[in-house]
Amino acid sequence: MKLYRAKDYKDMSRKAANVISAQVIMKPDCVLGLATGSSPLGTYQQLIEWYEKGDLDFSETKSANLDEYKGLPRDNDQSYYYFMYNNFFKHINIDLNNTNIPNGMEPDSAKECARYEKVIADLGGVDLQLLGLGHNGHIGFNEPDAAFEKITHCVDLTESTIEANKRFFATIDDVPKQAYTMGIGTIMRAKKILLIVSGEEKSSILYKALYGPVTPQVPASILQLHNDVVVVADEAALSKFPG
Ligand code: F6R
Repeated sequence: MKLYRAKDYKDMSRKAANVISAQVIMKPDCVLGLATGSSPLGTYQQLIEWYEKGDLDFSETKSANLDEYKGLPRDNDQSYYYFMYNNFFKHINIDLNNTNIPNGMEPDSAKECARYEKVIADLGGVDLQLLGLGHNGHIGFNEPDAAFEKITHCVDLTESTIEANKRFFATIDDVPKQAYTMGIGTIMRAKKILLIVSGEEKSSILYKALYGPVTPQVPASILQLHNDVVVVADEAALSKFPG
């Protein structure tokens, strides 16, 4: 595991974007595993800037996102498709036919999860998987649990997640109660993993993930067993590390 120390969020985003551009330059038709959330926003902005300058070409690049809410159509502004389209895809020259996100509108969970696993397998697997880190150590929607869920599956969102999300919806009944997510095994099959972490509030969980016991109670701790992980964390995220 390589740990790169960044000064702040902007520096983290720039360093992460460097790792992703190196991948795209070395293998233009690579498969990028992508994430949503606040952590990768700056990384996407940096990649867009370099694309606009003519330094990057995504015309052959393919992508597979980690997760999507079940029950939200693509045009709902809370869907992960909407996030990816508006924060990244529409600004670069990636072919939308080469982008993949679980289909939140497929009601049959078993069918959708099997389809998505096959999509990734047919792509030849993910070359570089970008991950953010949840406050409880989750990656994708793989929450702390008694066991690692291996493949793409449907998760029931916790009451606290539903409660936290309700501000984005008209009523609590509109808040999605489930999501589709790549499993821990799906994530671990990526050839390379890039974990980006910013902010003091994630410092303790980052330390546990990188140096604590490997346990499904801290899903990101499984990354210790992957042989090609790059972590880019800012000083705040490293601030509670002992020593
Ligand atoms: C997003 C995802 C989540 C986030 C995590 C961190 O697709 O799968 O695991 O990466 O919740 O979120 P932020 O970056 O918003 O702190």
